Amino acid sequence: MRRPAGMSKIVLFIVAVAAVAAFAWGAGAQGHDAPHAGGAVLCSASPDATPPYQARKFPLEGKLDGISDRALQVHRDVLYAGYVKKLREIAEKLEKADRSAAAASYSDYRELKVEESFALDGVVLHEMYFENLGGKGSAPQAATLTLIERDFGSYEKWREDFLACGKAARGWVLLARADYDGKLHNFLLDAHNSLVPMGAKPLLVLDVYEHAYFIDYGADRAAYLDAFFRNIDWHKVEERAGKR
Ligand SMILES: [Fe+2]
Repeated sequence: MRRPAGMSKIVLFIVAVAAVAAFAWGAGAQGHDAPHAGGAVLCSASPDATPPYQARKFPLEGKLDGISDRALQVHRDVLYAGYVKKLREIAEKLEKADRSAAAASYSDYRELKVEESFALDGVVLHEMYFENLGGKGSAPQAATLTLIERDFGSYEKWREDFLACGKAARGWVLLARADYDGKLHNFLLDAHNSLVPMGAKPLLVLDVYEHAYFIDYGADRAAYLDAFFRNIDWHKVEERAGKR
């Protein structure tokens, strides 16, 4: 049966609209499913943010008191950068992992998920640590000091407790605000993904793995803790304290 000319134009218009809509949906879906593929990430990130799976720079050479450039470079360029690389590798393997063989006793899928948390936390904690270095370590700024005095009684009491955590921890120390009670706490972690407090937002991060200080201080962790305090960037801590 012959279709009227007007009807053909309408059909063509509907087909064209459907094609454009399908293309747009497909592009959006691709971006959503592949959040690290450039465009989708940059939509929500600040223009100068480093995309995921790329090590950030942290140019702290010559700026630290008591933490040598050599120790910084090994820590940042070998260890931290290594975690970024491993996190990317794990993400790629998870895309193709055999979920049908997942098992709690042992399975490739389980191992990938365990190491994903180790690598991810290793990246995030190191980035926060390097971010809060590079200052003069003078004193907490107004908002931070108010919170510290409210929840610890005084700066001195907080510092005493933070240093005790620094001696007792096997991996990290956090000054963090817990969602549970809204208060600041000092927490210690024995590994990147061990003893991580749920719902706590770190304000200050201290790395006490031996790799953080052995080059400069050998086994003298106390000397490294002193050096850490001399290099705290309290502006960064204040910025974190202002965020909810
Ligand atoms: Fe480290």
